[in-house]
Amino acid sequence: MSVGTIASESLRNEMVDRLAADHHAKGLALRPEVEAAMRTVPRELYTPGIPLEEAYENTAIITKRVGEENISSVSAPFLIAEMLGQAADALGRMEGRHVLEVGSGGYNASLLRELVGPAGSVTTVDIDPDVTDRAAACLEAAGYNDVIVVCADAEQPIEPGRRYDLIIVTAGAWDVAPAWRDQLAEDGVLVVPLRTFGMTRSWALRRSGDHLVSESHRQCGFVSVQGAGAHEVRYVDIADGVHLRLDEGQQIDPAVVADILTKPREEAWAGLSLPPRTVLADLNLWLATHLICEVQEFVVLSAQEGAVSSGIVAPSWRFGTPATLHDGTFAYRSALRWTGRLFDLGAYAHGPEAALAAGRMVEHMRAWVDAGSPSPVLHVLPAPAPDGDLPDGVVLDKRHSRLVLAFTPDEKGTR
Ligand SMILES: C[S@@+](CC[C@H](N)C(=O)[O-])C[C@H]1O[C@@H](n2cnc3c(N)ncnc32)[C@H](O)[C@@H]1O
Repeated sequence: MSVGTIASESLRNEMVDRLAADHHAKGLALRPEVEAAMRTVPRELYTPGIPLEEAYENTAIITKRVGEENISSVSAPFLIAEMLGQAADALGRMEGRHVLEVGSGGYNASLLRELVGPAGSVTTVDIDPDVTDRAAACLEAAGYNDVIVVCADAEQPIEPGRRYDLIIVTAGAWDVAPAWRDQLAEDGVLVVPLRTFGMTRSWALRRSGDHLVSESHRQCGFVSVQGAGAHEVRYVDIADGVHLRLDEGQQIDPAVVADILTKPREEAWAGLSLPPRTVLADLNLWLATHLICEVQEFVVLSAQEGAVSSGIVAPSWRFGTPATLHDGTFAYRSALRWTGRLFDLGAYAHGPEAALAAGRMVEHMRAWVDAGSPSPVLHVLPAPAPDGDLPDGVVLDKRHSRLVLAFTPDEKGTR
């Protein structure tokens, strides 16, 4: 074994040890077959030109940019591990499965190849010929010659007539393309990073007829889907380095929010003690589904590091915090507050009804904790589904599908 191979193996094992610890800290378990695959596949073969140490950092490696926008990457190992874990949890056994990966980089496809073994198959599709050329070359160099690499828009069926046990989408989607559901075997699983209310979660959805129902979800971020399923994300600046992320059809007059953060700030606190490992990403979807009926606009606040460190805003998470706009008042979920005794949930608000708006948000936080901090379940039905066919929950209409997010108290998700 060469010195380079030993260095690679040792860095790879250290990375996987960190992933296992990271999973544990989140209350998850790194599945043994996912762990074994990650200890086997040399990630550096998919990141040529990048120093070996960087190939084993727990971050995405950007492989293509257009202007300011990242459009392709080799995904972050922790995210790949979580999504493969979601797939394996839902399918129970990965061996012998037939898989379609949407979005190619080569690395995830080779991990899938390890997981499904000789009796299974992996097809990977990417819309960008630069990406498929690169992925095909890397897969060949790594010895994974039997991964089928296709250049196409995955909004359309890829290998007509074929059905997959698993479709794993590795780009951020706004909707569920009908082709993804139709190419799944009955009982098959779609793992897809999907944006609802401006917040992206990787959902593991099981097919039952033309209905998909979630079995787990993870907070995540991805480069966006391109092609026919592309969906523009728009931002409105409300201060230097502070933006509101708008969903399709949302119209906000920039003049109304231009100086909103300069207005005096009111705050409200829930007075709660959060149990360890509470999944606050679930709270954010709870707030979205509960506030959307009460306010004019539900939006997502994002902020640059400088805006947070200088105190312009103090959001719960600078990459995406639930926020509302109502009658010229802006409110958002604040960073947690340590009171010496407990981590408390709170809200900040600016504008004419600031105290009321902050109080309203905090009431919903209390209600979520009182309900047992439930996780949402996502149902995906085809767009023509009549209202009467929808399960109980908050309905979100997309281009091709009707999504229903349901919170059932006492019925926790997998995390
Ligand atoms: C994060 S990268 C994929 C990472 C990869 N799975 C890996 O092994 O690390 C996302 C990819 O999705 C591709 N993509 C975006 N929209 C697509 C579409 N409609 N059909 C197929 N691929 C698409 C992009 O070109 C990009 O290369």
